Amino acid sequence: MMRLQKFVAVTALAACFAPTFVSADAADDAIDARRGYYQVVKHNAGMLFGMAKGDIAYDAAQAQTFADNLKALADMNTGSMWPQGSDNASKPGKTRALPVAWETYPAILEKQEAFKAASANMAANVGGGLDALLGNIGALGASCKGCHDNYRAKEF
Ligand code: HEC
Repeated sequence: MMRLQKFVAVTALAACFAPTFVSADAADDAIDARRGYYQVVKHNAGMLFGMAKGDIAYDAAQAQTFADNLKALADMNTGSMWPQGSDNASKPGKTRALPVAWETYPAILEKQEAFKAASANMAANVGGGLDALLGNIGALGASCKGCHDNYRAKEF
């Protein structure tokens, strides 16, 4: 219990690797939630990436909304979406989350911190114009890639 409380106290992914028993269905539910969460992350980040590329016209108010959403998502405690037994070795074909995320925990939290910092910087600056968006988009993209390169399989 002490250990669990310590994990919960840490940060966004904190409860994630807590050694709780989870039924097969609960692991499936957690995977659904986790993947849904990242789809919402992608939706909001994708709008900002689109504005950076010029595919979507920059609009300060819209950009602010997407960045605020992203920051809220980054700050969210998603710990319960990462139970033991929800990696791609336990659930092949259902998830791309690599077992190394659990094996090396809490290393993955550094990647989450990078995502949180990049989202916060984006939210603080993006309303200031396209240049402000461009000045922060690299760090945001790098924060996604930094985690995916280590903790997400390329294929299911
Ligand atoms: C702390 C690590 C981490 C960060 C930061 C992160 N991701 Fe991911 N992402 C993952 C993992 C792990 C998966 C695999 C989840 C699964 O299959 O269960 C994933 C999956 C995804 C998926 C696929 C979801 C699906 O339907 O299977 C998308 C899209 C995605 N991430 C986008 C992003 C974007 C965009 C960012 C940055 C703005 C980002 N992620 C930041 C770890 C991260």
